[in-house]
Amino acid sequence: MHFPNVFTPPVLTVLAALAFALAGCSDPSSHTAGVAARPVGGDFVLQSAAGSVDTRVLRGKVLLVYFGYTHCPDVCPAAMGVGAQTLNALTPEERAKTRMLMISVDPERDTPAVLKTYVAYFHPEMVGVTGTPAEIAAVAKAYGAAYIKQPPNEHGAYAVDHSAQTFVVAPDGRLAEILPPATSKEKMLAVVRGLLP
Ligand code: NI
Repeated sequence: MHFPNVFTPPVLTVLAALAFALAGCSDPSSHTAGVAARPVGGDFVLQSAAGSVDTRVLRGKVLLVYFGYTHCPDVCPAAMGVGAQTLNALTPEERAKTRMLMISVDPERDTPAVLKTYVAYFHPEMVGVTGTPAEIAAVAKAYGAAYIKQPPNEHGAYAVDHSAQTFVVAPDGRLAEILPPATSKEKMLAVVRGLLP
């Protein structure tokens, strides 16, 4: 399940809190689904199967940052698919300056190894990262992403409702664009190319 289709009361509380924390911003273009106000983004260090991923080391590249989880039934696969199509549409030179990172909002199940297998299904150059619940919460807050774990069913399975934007970080590290869910490959490609050095 995903925002904004399923707003459960706890989620609304989270979003209301975000809106309050970020009150004062008035850029209407930033009011995309699941995002309360213009977030600031910023650097982070999270863990992939190949080791730490530090965004400060990725200066000079365009980053596509997506928050999701590998058990997601629908929207995550769609978003990852569009990301993969975008990477494939870039020239090799452009692609060398572009990274797509999937940040898990389900660190309990999404180990670095699980994430590696998952993202590789979409594109060999995608990177899946995770961290402690506190680390992920801090990054999500900085980017204006929201997520909330739902109660498990009788088999212990659970969903994690989450916002589904793709955050585009410019080569200088600033959060340049927030692409709403279901953004097309053409749009994503244009945004990436507009930021490439
Ligand atoms: Ni999802």
